[in-house]
Amino acid sequence: PEPSWALRADVAVVGSGIAGLSTALRYVRRTRSGRVVLVTKDRLSTGSTAYAQGGIAAAMAPEDGPVAHMVDTLLAGAGLCDPHAVNVLATEGPEALRWLIGLGAEFDRDDDGELSLTREGGHRADRVAHAGGDATGAEIQRALVQAVLAEERIEVVEHAIALDALRDPDSGAVRGATLHVMGEGKRDGVGAVLAPAVVLATGGMGQVFAATTNPPVSTGDGLALAARAGARLRDLEFIQFHPTVLWLGPNARGRQPLISEALRGEGAYLVDAEGRRIMEGVHELGDLAPRDVVARTIARTMAEQGTDHVYLETRHFGRATWEKRFPTILASCRAHGIDPLARTIPVAPAAHYASGGVEVDIDGRTGVPGLWAVGEVARTGVHGANRLASNSLLEGLVYADRIATRLADAPARDSGEAQPLGTNTPLVDPATSATVRTLMSRDAGVLRTGEGLAELVARLDGLAVPAEHVAPGVTAWEATNLLTVARLVAAAARHRTESRGSHQRADAPEPRPELRVRPMVVRLEGDSI
Ligand code: SIN
Repeated sequence: PEPSWALRADVAVVGSGIAGLSTALRYVRRTRSGRVVLVTKDRLSTGSTAYAQGGIAAAMAPEDGPVAHMVDTLLAGAGLCDPHAVNVLATEGPEALRWLIGLGAEFDRDDDGELSLTREGGHRADRVAHAGGDATGAEIQRALVQAVLAEERIEVVEHAIALDALRDPDSGAVRGATLHVMGEGKRDGVGAVLAPAVVLATGGMGQVFAATTNPPVSTGDGLALAARAGARLRDLEFIQFHPTVLWLGPNARGRQPLISEALRGEGAYLVDAEGRRIMEGVHELGDLAPRDVVARTIARTMAEQGTDHVYLETRHFGRATWEKRFPTILASCRAHGIDPLARTIPVAPAAHYASGGVEVDIDGRTGVPGLWAVGEVARTGVHGANRLASNSLLEGLVYADRIATRLADAPARDSGEAQPLGTNTPLVDPATSATVRTLMSRDAGVLRTGEGLAELVARLDGLAVPAEHVAPGVTAWEATNLLTVARLVAAAARHRTESRGSHQRADAPEPRPELRVRPMVVRLEGDSI
């Protein structure tokens, strides 16, 4: 569709979680007159950040340090992290967290007023800061939104899905994006934001699976936009499944309540229906093993025992700990009729985080001039084959600062004219989304096989037929993006003929050293991958 109106800015930020809001704030505060248009698909606070429970990792304790944080991150990443990117994350992390605190985010503190730090899977030190007990993301989002709304040079456009990159007709550089805006008066319909830099901060793609911790907006829109613009996508096969998501029955679909790993950090443990501890003897860190190890052990236990969930034992916490430390989780269990003070909590793994994404350099640049990416949508190399718990909020903060610094240093450029080049994306029938999700959960879940992935690729290819008479609108765009992203993930998973981190194949159960050094990149060319 051709845009019928346009906004201009120095920087267009797409997405309003920790990564997008921090990029916008850091950029305007580093420039005297730089203007940002920040677009978000729903309201400012509906993304994944606000749902984060456990916390944000940073080496803040005197007995901890960036090197120890780096080692734990590299070990969790199963050989595929970029050490330079991890070094940046771990060393710039504490300062980034202090910036957030300076902005007004209130973290939990001990009786001496020091940050209260806990532990999660894969961490060998207490370094996870939390807020409101288990409502860390909501507090971070609150502080960031408040700061953004107070900035006169950040214009917020809500209810706007970014469709495609706009390109300079001569150089091909990205110069903006088309937007589909819903119910916003004079800006309804398809418009555009024109800017010499477009920063994707669109978050994840959990909705490509049948069960996920991600909110409904996480449909991989930024990944799909970047893929259509010709960007390289890397490590997409490494979908992280959170081990402990409240099990709501075999037919539960969409966003499922998270049961934070911080519970295990405080002494909760996993048991089967007979009460046997399932993590014993599996890993030196036991119930606090890296997330991929725990998810895999649960999946194997469920397969062996012919069940679809296991249990988390927390009854020894008692009421006071539950109410003070985990009020959000307590409320969400009770809302589903489960009283964790009286019984074990039924849990199962669900899609949680995309460790890969749009390949970027150490400053957030994609290979497409003018297009940047930050947060979950980006692949910086900090997560490798399996993200360490609570590193994602930190990644959003640290890399937002790096992008903002580069953009603020760049000479002012005119966004000039821009055209939608090669963006005549055919829409698919919105009804395909349900099929995509079922297929992805069946064949690209915690345990995969070559045969299942081959069938998945074929079935998804078969769905990729432009539908006739589909009215353009959010559900049709989301369905189109979901299918594109699913096809990219399936292709990447099929090509990785080994087991590593969160990509586990029954037909190739060991890691293959030669694949560690070969980047696994997928690209969209026309309609082929
Ligand atoms: C959790 O609280 O268990 C989730 C933390 C994360 O995904 O980093």
